[in-house]
Amino acid sequence: MGAITILPTFLSANKLLVFVCLIVLSLKEGYATAEAESHTIHVASLLPSSVCTPPATAKGLDKKSSLQVIHKHGPCSQPHEEKANIPTHVQILLLDEVRVKSIHSKLAKNLGSVNVMKKDAAANLPAKDGSVVGSGNYIVTMGLGTPKKNLRLIFDTGSDITWTQCQPCLRSCYKQQDPIFSPSSSSTYSNVSCSSAACTSLNSATGNSPGCSSSTCVYGIQYGDSSFSIGLFAKEKLTLTSNVVFDNFLFGCGQNNQGLFGGAAGLLGLGRNKLSFPSQTAIKFKKIFSYCLPSSPSSTGFLKFGNDGLSKSVKFTTLSTISGGESFYGITIIAMSVGGKKLLISASILAAGGAIIDSGTVITRLPPTAYSALRSAFRKQMNQYPMAKPLSILDTCYDFSKYSTVSIPKISLFFEKGVEVPIDARGILYVNSISQVCLAFAGNTNDFDVLIYGNTQQKTLEVVYDGTRRMIGFRTGGCT
Ligand SMILES: *[C@@H]1O[C@H](CO)[C@@H](O)[C@H](O)[C@H]1NC(C)=O
Repeated sequence: MGAITILPTFLSANKLLVFVCLIVLSLKEGYATAEAESHTIHVASLLPSSVCTPPATAKGLDKKSSLQVIHKHGPCSQPHEEKANIPTHVQILLLDEVRVKSIHSKLAKNLGSVNVMKKDAAANLPAKDGSVVGSGNYIVTMGLGTPKKNLRLIFDTGSDITWTQCQPCLRSCYKQQDPIFSPSSSSTYSNVSCSSAACTSLNSATGNSPGCSSSTCVYGIQYGDSSFSIGLFAKEKLTLTSNVVFDNFLFGCGQNNQGLFGGAAGLLGLGRNKLSFPSQTAIKFKKIFSYCLPSSPSSTGFLKFGNDGLSKSVKFTTLSTISGGESFYGITIIAMSVGGKKLLISASILAAGGAIIDSGTVITRLPPTAYSALRSAFRKQMNQYPMAKPLSILDTCYDFSKYSTVSIPKISLFFEKGVEVPIDARGILYVNSISQVCLAFAGNTNDFDVLIYGNTQQKTLEVVYDGTRRMIGFRTGGCT
């Protein structure tokens, strides 16, 4: 302070103004580049750990309706998967592309512009372009039947029906980690009749007309990667936690199942159709659920139902509906920033094809115009690092093998209602190896394809879905 008061004796008023401005500017600039607008990362921390870190204080898990979330292929998934069954990063990204293509064609088809229906002889179901189970998925454990049997299910906000493999596996069951559910050993199992309203609802939930086998309703769902599940549509007691139990939960008891479910017993459908889990449990949970996807396969997150104990720091934006894709959760991204600077992309480019948030897509897909703006800003701020060859759909990769720490620009997504969502550092990079670390975003083929906010960029955020108030909320630091 003393220095400022004596300055006028040396400088004219005009010069003083310039001088003060320079100090302010340099402080601002120093702050911006040194800490606020970039992440400093220890390169060694980018490599996956082979040990499962149990939830430290289990903050989200002490609530009654909360389940632990683990990555399908990580060390927290017990018993350990054989190494040979774990897909490579190239396979994961390839499957992710299949899921994205099928979401795009489903939406395009429902708008009447393409017709891509095929007939699949083996399954005797149309090869549907619905969602793909994919490979970068997350798993929760739920109890089914009486006595209760624990089942590991992939949860998916992009589909509706909950199903599990069932005995007898009339045609085929793939290998799963838990024993296959046996309806005949449960006292609370019942079949759904062909004439019931629930059976008719399968049409909109699966995109296939239900079948009928000696007056029992038969469901069939086929995913875009030609995974499928066919079986009896049934009701059963579903146990979330010891004191949260649902009687007569409608689910698929799959007697013919094939596909890339990676040892999980089936799928938990968190979409918006009336047969989805949030809709069937709406009386208790008001279609509210939230999850936090862990930053790495060696840590755990949570999937919570209802708004009990919801943090006040969750910031909400509007949930919309995508025409032709009513099961999806629609969002509106209005801007993006890299290293604290907003990209010059018009909101109309980001809105051109609509946007959804999806728990099952790995890599966020942007309109190509927006992706190239993001990529050039990112590359510019990363120009001190040597680049590496592309990894599948990821075209901006770096070789960090000669560094112990690196500094990467922060990236934020901006939503309607002034909600800024900063992406966790581990949601910005996709690591194949230390010598091939890639920007974890990709472009769609066309600006009019739907933008998909994928699960890599959701890591460590608590994402809150409120289907009743039609809001979606985000909170940073939801899990580690
Ligand atoms: C359910 O339906 C199947 C096929 O019609 C039948 O084999 C099975 O016994 C039924 N189960 C019950 C509990 O009614």
